[in-house]
Amino acid sequence: MDEQPDLVEGAKAVLAMNDRGIYTSPSIELYPHQWLWDSCFTAIGLRNYDIDRAMTEIRSLFEGQWHNGMIPNMIFSPDPKYARDRNIWNSIINPNSPDGLATSGITQPPMLAEAIVQIGKKLKAAERRSWYKEVLPTLLAYHQWIYNERDPHNEGLALQIHPWETGLDNTPPWMQEMHEHQLSLWIRVVKSLKLTPLFTVFRRDTKHVPAGQRMHTIDALGLFSTQRRLRRKGYDINKVLKHSLFAIEDLTFNSVLVRANQHLQDIAKYIRQDIPEDMLLQMKNTETALEHLWDAYTGQYYSRDFVTHKLIKEASVATLLPLYAGTISHDRAKQLVRLLENQHVFATDYPIPSVPANSPWFNPVCYWQGPAWVNINWLIIDGLERSGFPDHATALKESTLDMISQNGFYEYFNPLTGEAAGVPNFSWTAALAIDLTKN
Ligand code: GLC
Repeated sequence: MDEQPDLVEGAKAVLAMNDRGIYTSPSIELYPHQWLWDSCFTAIGLRNYDIDRAMTEIRSLFEGQWHNGMIPNMIFSPDPKYARDRNIWNSIINPNSPDGLATSGITQPPMLAEAIVQIGKKLKAAERRSWYKEVLPTLLAYHQWIYNERDPHNEGLALQIHPWETGLDNTPPWMQEMHEHQLSLWIRVVKSLKLTPLFTVFRRDTKHVPAGQRMHTIDALGLFSTQRRLRRKGYDINKVLKHSLFAIEDLTFNSVLVRANQHLQDIAKYIRQDIPEDMLLQMKNTETALEHLWDAYTGQYYSRDFVTHKLIKEASVATLLPLYAGTISHDRAKQLVRLLENQHVFATDYPIPSVPANSPWFNPVCYWQGPAWVNINWLIIDGLERSGFPDHATALKESTLDMISQNGFYEYFNPLTGEAAGVPNFSWTAALAIDLTKN
């Protein structure tokens, strides 16, 4: 990739602006706290020019690790002005929550191993060994937690209990399930009596971003009430599963898990440490089980209901993420690449739309229901490179960088016009622009 000095300097300025010392907030006003996969993507960018700061970003995530191994999707800023955010989760109600830090009670796609390895690639052998030695116990405990708590029947697939755990908050498959099975009675009443404007005034995001670019208020209320229910169960997975709350084996999460498991094994091998035998079996199991999410009829992958094992056949960009997992057959990879080439599906002028252009859900500016997101593009570029489609990877890298240089470091982009949407000065857009330019 040609160096783009202006783009790189601009991106560094965004990361400097969002730098909170030991972590980088995704955006200064709307997202002041630390998010798990955001910090991983940010570290992947930082490693290109400030390796120490990249390591600090990862170490600060470790601080939030629960005693059972979970790494939460959010670690809250201790600033007194955010007391309300911390109280919403009140993580202290769970005995496993870390001492002296307020966090959420759920996780996010396990991008940690990827970030660790990407940092490792920039280190000389001896430094890499000590980096891997330092991080392996924490990483291993996190993956063990995923299997202990989220794969209770040893099926190979990890289940998620809140749309926030997928990172794609209002993605169609989850919204479909929510509207069918999970919407509380009071929200149904709000919906049918058309009382949503009463609640819209309480939203913080729409004070920063036009309402049409965010999720619908009913969906936002659904996410909020799901969080309240999890909190009532003390974020205890046994109680959550007993009460048939959300339990979905999400495609994004599990594709990232497959790749993260490979990285975990590579890290252990590099420093000649063994991974427990049962973990190795579980990890192998995940690779095999990913194929259970394939639907031959539509030629796509989907998320699956944990209880009924039914695929949730609502298309989204997640269908392409098994390319990133890297374990699927060449034949299936080819079928996915065909979707990527099809202008009615994912080949919009500014790919990749988070929902296929021909889906009834598609809305080019509505959050995870259409816009293109740079982190997803990064994952798919990486997957295409490793799956034998280097030209597709280069084309996607170029169109992603064009979209950013023309429009700025925004949270997401209209895939039809490239226009910016969401908040400006968004950390992972900046970080990954640097990474795509330099590697
Ligand atoms: C939103 C996104 C999620 C991200 C978070 C912070 O919730 O959907 O993926 O981690 O914001 O940027």
